[in-house]
Amino acid sequence: MAIIRNDNDKTFTLYTKNTMYQLKIDEIGALVNTYYGAKMDYTDMYYAVRPEFGASFSPNLAQTNDSSSCHSFNHIHSELPVAGMGDFRLTTLGVRNTDGSYGADPRYYDAKIENGKYSIKGLPAFYGDESEAQTLIITLKDNVYDIYFHLYYGVFEEYDLITRSLVVENKTNASIHLEKAMSMALNLPCGSYDMMYFHGRHMRERILERTRINHAKVCVESVRGASSHMHNPFVIVCDKNATEDAGSAWGIGLVYSGNFEISAMKNLQEKTRVVAGINPENFNFEVEAGATFETPEVAMVYSKNGFAILSNCFHKATRNNLCRGKFKNARRPVLINSWEAVYFNFNADKLVSMAEEAKKLGVELFVLDDGWFGKRDNDHSGLGDWTPNEEKLQGTLKSLSERINELGMQFGIWFEPECINPDSDLYRAHPDYALAMPNREPLLSRNQYVLDLSRDDVIENIYNQLVNVLENANISYVKWDFNRHLTDVYSAKLPAHKQGEVYHRHMLGAYKLLEKVTQRFPNILFESCSGGGGRFDFGLLHYMPQAWTSDNTDAIDRLKIQYGTSFAYPVSTMGAHVSVCPNHGNARITPLKTRGNVAYFGTYGLELDVSKMTEEEKEEIKRQIVEFKKYYDLIQYGDYYRLIAPFPDEESLFCAWETVKDDGSEALVCVVRYETDCCTAPEFVKVKGLKPNQLYRINGSEKTYLGSALMNIGFLIEYNFISYPSNLYHITQA
Ligand code: GLA
Repeated sequence: MAIIRNDNDKTFTLYTKNTMYQLKIDEIGALVNTYYGAKMDYTDMYYAVRPEFGASFSPNLAQTNDSSSCHSFNHIHSELPVAGMGDFRLTTLGVRNTDGSYGADPRYYDAKIENGKYSIKGLPAFYGDESEAQTLIITLKDNVYDIYFHLYYGVFEEYDLITRSLVVENKTNASIHLEKAMSMALNLPCGSYDMMYFHGRHMRERILERTRINHAKVCVESVRGASSHMHNPFVIVCDKNATEDAGSAWGIGLVYSGNFEISAMKNLQEKTRVVAGINPENFNFEVEAGATFETPEVAMVYSKNGFAILSNCFHKATRNNLCRGKFKNARRPVLINSWEAVYFNFNADKLVSMAEEAKKLGVELFVLDDGWFGKRDNDHSGLGDWTPNEEKLQGTLKSLSERINELGMQFGIWFEPECINPDSDLYRAHPDYALAMPNREPLLSRNQYVLDLSRDDVIENIYNQLVNVLENANISYVKWDFNRHLTDVYSAKLPAHKQGEVYHRHMLGAYKLLEKVTQRFPNILFESCSGGGGRFDFGLLHYMPQAWTSDNTDAIDRLKIQYGTSFAYPVSTMGAHVSVCPNHGNARITPLKTRGNVAYFGTYGLELDVSKMTEEEKEEIKRQIVEFKKYYDLIQYGDYYRLIAPFPDEESLFCAWETVKDDGSEALVCVVRYETDCCTAPEFVKVKGLKPNQLYRINGSEKTYLGSALMNIGFLIEYNFISYPSNLYHITQA
């Protein structure tokens, strides 16, 4: 049993393999989070969170000199902190009642435990059957109005994963407004914590930064209508000294792709609270009488031994219980994408000749990127008109797909379904389909607007266009792009008082469209993209099992990007391609082998014009495809370890990561040198996850090494006298 209900203590204790999360109904009926940490035998942990002293400047329900009987929302470890009720810390809910008052006082109403994992109406979520997960639903009710708060908890024992979501149900006879509806609050015990977060910009996504959580709010967020390049909706809150292998760490990820906020702050009792959910900026959601509002899901993993364990739990849960469809654990085809090879300048003959060359090297899937539809020879026009440009394609899309198929390759295609160019037939016919404010010219970004996906008619139009294309050619893969952020967030179809719903309704609409398209075409492999890795989040991975990690394909920059991405997301989700040198983004020249080695720790594909490669380079690509396939299972399904971080320091000029079979019998280590230095000192890399008493060989060496030696001292990194060298080390049992 993963969930234990103790009616004497009024506790609910959620157990995973290694962790415990406890809730208690306190003396007034409020729900308190007493503990989230390492697994222990059952005990009521309330003593650890009960305020020990009086509450000056903290409003009280029972003002008394006896601290044990005073009750202030400003001090308790509230599981659902509500604004306006004397909790002056970070809160999760803002409820504007029918009478205009701002507040709610949720008290315990009832609870139930169910087998299997709950799902959320219209939103992506982790899923699990009765053998994988359990659900706890605790319902609280406002002590004045008929407003119910259903707190959902999903418990995945095996992955140490706990999910949360909140449903607000309005049973009064008039509308209420949620002015803030975040998904969770987590109250940590006294201590000093850091927040690790992943920031960036286009071509530089998910760069790790770490900062102390003190008495000023630490916040990562998006107000761009997409999770965005700037901050990823995932953080790790950890002991100030926590490392990959030591210290308490709580991973918190939102299963949502729109505006978000994850914030943390120490309160006046030196305790840290973290809140996560939809960003309250321009959020105001009407919940009509009898209606509900569902918040996005939050996924949490606690590790008492650092980040590596935490990442691996997220990786496994994502692969097995978030991604869906036949590709979630299948070997994905090695693809070549046309974008960096030809951009908008192609015709069918050029594409087929590139595919022919690629086929000879072992490539399995040819992807035609942007430029095949409408009037689209640059990024100024055409989005919204998903009709193949038969002049450019020298025939129909079907005939092109057949020409590719005849080579023995699959065919894939690019879409950007959520956007529209003003220079398009769709816009000329339906200008109101784009988000735009009355009396203002909407802002352009990459010469395009965003479609108003809060509208079902817009969703239907795009859905029908996509279906028409996908049904009329033999398409095995879709790259689903999104190349600008939301402005002019106003829907022509909603009344003034509902405009604060548009950001979220737009996201719900995007999910609805994705659900319809991906369910209609279960045999198509979908990869998400947003100016590279601008929407790489748990939400979209529910629909598309891989995401283009970054438009930056430089192998050295990619080290930081893929390293940062790996804290939350598994290798199997990271689109990674070998491209040409000098690199189109930063002009760097790197060895082809290094470009391959880095792309192996992703989905590995090509994005260059193969016909322009030398024979020697073609041989190298052939070798890489064979090697990648040989290690495919180990790389994609092994336990993943970050061995040396790609940030220059005194000790290392290398980045190293490893994947190891979970029984420790085989490992693959990739080491890349990202800095140059004369008179290099010898450097060792320590391996993880091996069997201590087992002998191993490295790349079939004569010499054998004891597992513990490789883990405690490591092995010497080979020295190659070239710029940006890299090596793979295959470690097998002797
Ligand atoms: C985005 C993507 C690229 C490419 C272009 C096409 O920038 O990230 O990979 O598909 O759009 O316009």
